[in-house]
Amino acid sequence: MAPVFRPFRHDDTEAVVALWGACGLLRPWNDPRRDIARKVAEQPELFLVAAADGAQGSAAAGTVVGAGMAGYDGHRGWVNYLAVAPELQGSGLGRAFMAEFERLLADRGCPKVNVQVREGNEQVLGFYASLGYAPDRAVSLGKSLIADD
Ligand SMILES: CC(C)(COP(=O)(O)OP(=O)(O)OC[C@H]1O[C@@H](n2cnc3c(N)ncnc32)[C@H](O)[C@@H]1OP(=O)(O)O)[C@@H](O)C(=O)NCCC(=O)NCCS
Repeated sequence: MAPVFRPFRHDDTEAVVALWGACGLLRPWNDPRRDIARKVAEQPELFLVAAADGAQGSAAAGTVVGAGMAGYDGHRGWVNYLAVAPELQGSGLGRAFMAEFERLLADRGCPKVNVQVREGNEQVLGFYASLGYAPDRAVSLGKSLIADD
Protein backbone atom coordinates (compact mmCIF):
# COMPACT_ATOMS: atom_id res chain seq x y z
CA MET A 1 0.00 0.00 0.00
CA ALA A 2 1.02 3.60 -0.38
CA PRO A 3 1.22 4.74 3.24
CA VAL A 4 -0.64 7.87 4.19
CA PHE A 5 0.95 9.18 7.35
CA ARG A 6 -0.84 11.74 9.44
CA PRO A 7 -0.75 12.91 13.06
CA PHE A 8 -2.81 10.94 15.55
CA ARG A 9 -6.32 12.27 16.21
CA HIS A 10 -8.31 11.63 19.36
CA ASP A 11 -10.84 9.48 17.49
CA ASP A 12 -8.02 7.12 16.46
CA THR A 13 -7.61 6.04 20.09
CA GLU A 14 -9.48 2.75 20.05
CA ALA A 15 -8.09 1.72 16.65
CA VAL A 16 -4.54 2.41 17.82
CA VAL A 17 -5.01 0.54 21.10
CA ALA A 18 -6.46 -2.41 19.18
CA LEU A 19 -3.53 -2.31 16.74
CA TRP A 20 -0.99 -2.31 19.56
CA GLY A 21 -2.85 -5.23 21.12
CA ALA A 22 -2.83 -7.17 17.85
CA CYS A 23 0.91 -6.50 17.56
CA GLY A 24 1.70 -7.69 21.08
CA LEU A 25 2.83 -4.30 22.38
CA LEU A 26 0.49 -3.95 25.35
CA ARG A 27 1.72 -4.68 28.86
CA PRO A 28 -0.32 -4.74 32.08
CA TRP A 29 1.86 -2.02 33.62
CA ASN A 30 1.37 0.40 30.70
CA ASP A 31 -2.14 1.82 30.27
CA PRO A 32 -2.15 2.62 26.52
CA ARG A 33 -4.84 5.29 26.82
CA ARG A 34 -2.82 7.04 29.51
CA ASP A 35 0.30 6.71 27.36
CA ILE A 36 -1.63 8.27 24.47
CA ALA A 37 -2.84 11.14 26.66
CA ARG A 38 0.72 11.84 27.76
CA LYS A 39 2.02 11.78 24.21
CA VAL A 40 -0.73 14.08 22.98
CA ALA A 41 0.56 16.56 25.59
CA GLU A 42 4.17 16.34 24.36
CA GLN A 43 5.22 16.72 20.71
CA PRO A 44 1.89 15.37 19.41
CA GLU A 45 3.04 16.08 15.86
CA LEU A 46 5.45 13.14 16.28
CA PHE A 47 2.66 10.69 17.10
CA LEU A 48 1.69 9.30 13.70
CA VAL A 49 -0.73 6.84 12.29
CA ALA A 50 -0.67 5.24 8.85
CA ALA A 51 -4.07 5.20 7.22
CA ALA A 52 -4.99 2.72 4.50
CA ASP A 53 -5.40 4.37 1.12
CA GLY A 54 -8.08 1.87 0.08
CA ALA A 55 -6.22 1.04 -3.11
CA GLN A 56 -4.80 -2.32 -2.05
CA GLY A 57 -5.56 -5.00 0.46
CA SER A 58 -8.78 -5.41 2.37
CA ALA A 59 -8.47 -2.40 4.66
CA ALA A 60 -11.02 0.32 3.88
CA ALA A 61 -9.65 3.76 3.11
CA GLY A 62 -8.85 5.58 6.30
CA THR A 63 -8.43 2.46 8.43
CA VAL A 64 -5.53 2.78 10.85
CA VAL A 65 -2.97 0.15 9.76
CA GLY A 66 0.09 1.50 11.54
CA ALA A 67 1.01 3.69 14.48
CA GLY A 68 4.07 4.90 16.31
CA MET A 69 5.30 7.59 18.67
CA ALA A 70 8.53 9.51 18.20
CA GLY A 71 10.07 12.20 20.35
CA TYR A 72 13.18 14.36 20.52
CA ASP A 73 14.61 15.18 23.94
CA GLY A 74 17.21 17.62 22.67
CA HIS A 75 19.93 14.97 22.52
CA ARG A 76 18.41 11.84 21.04
CA GLY A 77 15.32 10.93 19.14
CA TRP A 78 13.23 8.01 20.30
CA VAL A 79 10.63 5.80 18.66
CA ASN A 80 8.14 3.85 20.73
CA TYR A 81 5.02 1.79 20.17
CA LEU A 82 5.79 1.21 16.47
CA ALA A 83 3.25 -1.20 15.04
CA VAL A 84 2.09 -2.35 11.62
CA ALA A 85 -1.14 -4.31 11.23
CA PRO A 86 -0.26 -8.02 11.14
CA GLU A 87 -1.77 -8.51 7.67
CA LEU A 88 0.49 -5.77 6.29
CA GLN A 89 3.70 -6.71 8.06
CA GLY A 90 6.46 -7.43 5.59
CA SER A 91 5.02 -5.04 3.01
CA GLY A 92 7.49 -2.21 3.65
CA LEU A 93 5.22 -0.12 5.84
CA GLY A 94 7.49 -0.39 8.90
CA ARG A 95 10.45 0.79 6.86
CA ALA A 96 8.41 3.71 5.47
CA PHE A 97 7.26 4.58 8.99
CA MET A 98 10.80 4.72 10.32
CA ALA A 99 11.92 6.78 7.31
CA GLU A 100 9.15 9.27 8.06
CA PHE A 101 10.15 9.49 11.73
CA GLU A 102 13.81 9.90 10.79
CA ARG A 103 12.87 12.70 8.39
CA LEU A 104 10.79 14.51 11.00
CA LEU A 105 13.46 14.11 13.68
CA ALA A 106 16.29 15.19 11.38
CA ASP A 107 14.25 18.28 10.41
CA ARG A 108 14.29 19.25 14.11
CA GLY A 109 18.07 18.88 14.28
CA CYS A 110 18.02 15.50 16.00
CA PRO A 111 21.43 13.86 15.42
CA LYS A 112 20.64 10.27 16.40
CA VAL A 113 17.65 7.99 16.89
CA ASN A 114 17.42 5.29 19.52
CA VAL A 115 14.90 2.51 19.94
CA GLN A 116 14.42 0.10 22.81
CA VAL A 117 13.47 -3.51 22.14
CA ARG A 118 11.89 -5.44 24.96
CA GLU A 119 13.30 -8.73 26.15
CA GLY A 120 11.31 -11.43 24.38
CA ASN A 121 10.86 -9.36 21.20
CA GLU A 122 14.35 -10.01 19.84
CA GLN A 123 12.96 -11.14 16.48
CA VAL A 124 12.36 -7.49 15.67
CA LEU A 125 16.11 -6.80 15.83
CA GLY A 126 16.43 -7.97 12.22
CA PHE A 127 13.97 -5.28 11.14
CA TYR A 128 15.99 -2.52 12.80
CA ALA A 129 19.27 -3.98 11.55
CA SER A 130 17.98 -3.83 7.98
CA LEU A 131 17.31 -0.10 8.56
CA GLY A 132 20.87 0.53 9.78
CA TYR A 133 20.25 0.41 13.54
CA ALA A 134 23.09 -1.15 15.52
CA PRO A 135 23.38 -2.06 19.21
CA ASP A 136 24.77 0.76 21.33
CA ARG A 137 27.40 0.10 23.95
CA ALA A 138 24.94 1.02 26.68
CA VAL A 139 22.66 -0.61 29.21
CA SER A 140 19.13 0.74 29.40
CA LEU A 141 18.09 1.77 32.91
CA GLY A 142 14.77 3.14 34.13
CA LYS A 143 13.21 4.66 37.25
CA SER A 144 9.55 5.49 37.76
CA LEU A 145 8.71 9.09 38.62
CA ILE A 146 4.95 8.60 38.81
CA ALA A 147 3.49 5.52 40.44
CA ASP A 148 1.05 4.45 37.75
CA ASP A 149 -1.19 1.86 39.34
C1 LIG B 1 8.43 -4.31 13.54
C2 LIG B 1 7.39 -3.91 12.50
C3 LIG B 1 6.88 -2.50 12.80
C4 LIG B 1 8.05 -3.93 11.12
O1 LIG B 1 7.13 -3.50 10.15
P1 LIG B 1 7.01 -4.25 8.74
O2 LIG B 1 6.07 -3.46 7.90
O3 LIG B 1 6.68 -5.67 8.98
O4 LIG B 1 8.50 -4.16 8.19
P2 LIG B 1 8.94 -3.96 6.65
O5 LIG B 1 8.09 -4.78 5.77
O6 LIG B 1 9.01 -2.49 6.35
O7 LIG B 1 10.40 -4.56 6.68
C5 LIG B 1 11.54 -3.74 6.47
C6 LIG B 1 12.72 -4.64 6.37
O8 LIG B 1 12.92 -5.31 7.61
C7 LIG B 1 12.98 -6.71 7.38
N1 LIG B 1 12.36 -7.37 8.52
C8 LIG B 1 11.13 -7.14 9.00
N2 LIG B 1 10.91 -7.92 10.07
C9 LIG B 1 12.05 -8.65 10.23
C10 LIG B 1 12.45 -9.63 11.15
N3 LIG B 1 11.65 -10.03 12.15
N4 LIG B 1 13.69 -10.18 11.02
C11 LIG B 1 14.50 -9.78 10.03
N5 LIG B 1 14.18 -8.83 9.14
C12 LIG B 1 12.96 -8.28 9.24
C13 LIG B 1 12.20 -6.93 6.12
O9 LIG B 1 12.60 -8.14 5.50
C14 LIG B 1 12.55 -5.72 5.31
O10 LIG B 1 13.82 -5.88 4.72
P3 LIG B 1 14.04 -5.49 3.18
O11 LIG B 1 13.42 -4.13 3.00
O12 LIG B 1 15.52 -5.51 3.02
O13 LIG B 1 13.31 -6.54 2.42
C15 LIG B 1 6.20 -4.90 12.48
O14 LIG B 1 6.68 -6.19 12.19
C16 LIG B 1 5.41 -4.94 13.77
O15 LIG B 1 4.47 -4.18 13.96
N6 LIG B 1 5.80 -5.87 14.69
C17 LIG B 1 5.09 -6.05 15.96
C18 LIG B 1 5.28 -4.88 16.90
C19 LIG B 1 6.75 -4.65 17.24
O16 LIG B 1 7.47 -5.55 17.61
N7 LIG B 1 7.14 -3.37 17.14
C20 LIG B 1 8.51 -2.94 17.43
C21 LIG B 1 8.69 -2.67 18.87
S1 LIG B 1 10.41 -2.28 19.25
